[in-house]
Amino acid sequence: MRGAVNLADVRELARRRLPRAVFDMVDGGADDELTLTRNETAFRELLLSPRTMADAGPVDPSTEVLGQRVSMPVLLAPTGGGRVAHRRAELAVAAAARAHGTVYVQSTVTGFPLEEVARAGGGGLWYQLYAPAARAEIPAMLERVAAAGYRVLVLTVDTPVFGGRERDRRNGFSLPVRPHPRMLLQGASRPAWAVDFLRGNLPTRRGGRLSAWATQRQILAAPRPVTWADLAHVRDLWSGPLVVKGVLRPQEVPRLLDAGADALVVSNHGGRQLDGVPATIEALPAVVAAVGGRAEVYLDGGVRRGTDVLKALALGARAVLVGRPYLYGLAAGGQAGVERVLELLHAEFVRALALTGCRTPADVEAGLVLPAR
Ligand SMILES: Cc1cc2nc3c(=O)[nH]c(=O)nc-3n(C[C@H](O)[C@H](O)[C@H](O)COP(=O)(O)O)c2cc1C
Repeated sequence: MRGAVNLADVRELARRRLPRAVFDMVDGGADDELTLTRNETAFRELLLSPRTMADAGPVDPSTEVLGQRVSMPVLLAPTGGGRVAHRRAELAVAAAARAHGTVYVQSTVTGFPLEEVARAGGGGLWYQLYAPAARAEIPAMLERVAAAGYRVLVLTVDTPVFGGRERDRRNGFSLPVRPHPRMLLQGASRPAWAVDFLRGNLPTRRGGRLSAWATQRQILAAPRPVTWADLAHVRDLWSGPLVVKGVLRPQEVPRLLDAGADALVVSNHGGRQLDGVPATIEALPAVVAAVGGRAEVYLDGGVRRGTDVLKALALGARAVLVGRPYLYGLAAGGQAGVERVLELLHAEFVRALALTGCRTPADVEAGLVLPAR
């Protein structure tokens, strides 16, 4: 892991360690992967305009999100299914976020009980909710989430059905994993992964660890649209800060804020849902303008460099989230791999601040990004 000097190196390590079907599950997007690709290329096409000779002083990349201090404006996005990439999955990611002083958003789709993940995260975690099929289940679910110590709730609204993940269909891959001959064959050529997977997923005397998936079976089988009525219901029940994830249209922003959202995540689910929507960095400015300072705005999708974090902040985001980057780290090296990814992004972001004459994230202003030509 130490040899990895950037995220592309970490991704390559993950590609070599995972069976093809598992790597593709993490790496892939929907349909033609137009949006997946665009998330990254749109960042690359934005050019920076650094301030020179700024007497900024020592850089401090820390910031606050919903009143919570974090070591940098980079949070870990909710991802389900990490258990196929690494046996300790959410536990390793939560511990890495805790070690690095940032937020991990724990997904509804998890290989471990949410209480165990909360303990590994040491109190700093947020919880992402997929609406259960029966609205009547929501109160008990939220009570459990609050009792476990999650402070912030993130409601994902872009998954009325799952996007068309063609790599998964081609590979015959689905969650929960049902091992089949082709995958076992691929696993045989990835012995380190195979040993880890078997250690983590073989049936135990406690009744079989794969059963940890059972509670998610329903959501995995049939997600359902989140409606405005669901949002109102959740807002009534949840007394802490509420974040809505999966916003691309400025037209919906006033109603989201009126409904009580404290923050929005401009997200296209990492290009895994509707293919053909804009890159999130393209969608961000209009959402920020519509919010007009009434809520915090975050972005996820395609963030691979410290300079990407800076670009998102310059265009009005308070922070970004990353998904695949830390999953590559998890696959390549468990908790240490996730920590390495956080270190890389931290070092790159600190350098980006220094090179643009900024001391803190608050110094990052719109003029640092050149208008698109
Ligand atoms: C393997 C994988 C699983 C994901 N699972 C979830 C999930 O359970 N809930 C959710 O809200 N978003 C989920 N996402 C989307 C991420 O939260 C995030 O929006 C996306 O990964 C950001 O793009 P990036 O991977 O380019 O950083 C998932 C993404 C990936 C790659």
